[in-house]
Amino acid sequence: MEGKIERTFIALKPDAVQRGIVGEVMDRLERAGLRIAALKMVQASDEVLEEHYSEHVDKDFYDSLAEFMKEGPVIAGVVEGVEAVAVVRKIVGATEPYEAAPGTIRGDFSHMSMEHADERGKAVKNIIHAAGNPEEAEEEISIWFDEEEIHQYERVDDFHIA
Ligand code: PPS
Repeated sequence: MEGKIERTFIALKPDAVQRGIVGEVMDRLERAGLRIAALKMVQASDEVLEEHYSEHVDKDFYDSLAEFMKEGPVIAGVVEGVEAVAVVRKIVGATEPYEAAPGTIRGDFSHMSMEHADERGKAVKNIIHAAGNPEEAEEEISIWFDEEEIHQYERVDDFHIA
């Protein structure tokens, strides 16, 4: 890693897999020029989810969030690029789909409000998780990946950011 090149953690949630939009979601990140450094399909365990969502474990919505995240496999990934954490969060959009702007992943592929989810005691289905800051990104990468699962290679367009 050098300069402002950084890596971030993403997880396409079970709703993305169930709806068959994994390719379209990944396309949003790839076409921005971000490098996929790791990608794998995983059935999340309680232990991993408790670590990943450690700041939310005691919140009212945690059980429904964990249940949702275990409904089916997730696609966990590491994505690299210039200011990758902020760039990926921008492409992903606001946490609440109702608020997420058109053109973002959540704004284009989902629309539910937190209120609607809370009234039904369900987690909000918002397609994808992306780490909130560089420290969180490194922490989440270490929860979901072994370092040897993370790859280094050149994209043909790397000279554009060199
Ligand atoms: S964020 O995007 O991480 O800053 O959002 P934050 O509010 O800190 O994290 C909340 C995560 O819990 C997921 N979630 C919900 N939050 C609130 N209410 C309900 N009902 C709810 N259901 C799920 C929310 O999507 C955030 O997780 P991620 O994985 O970041 O989307």
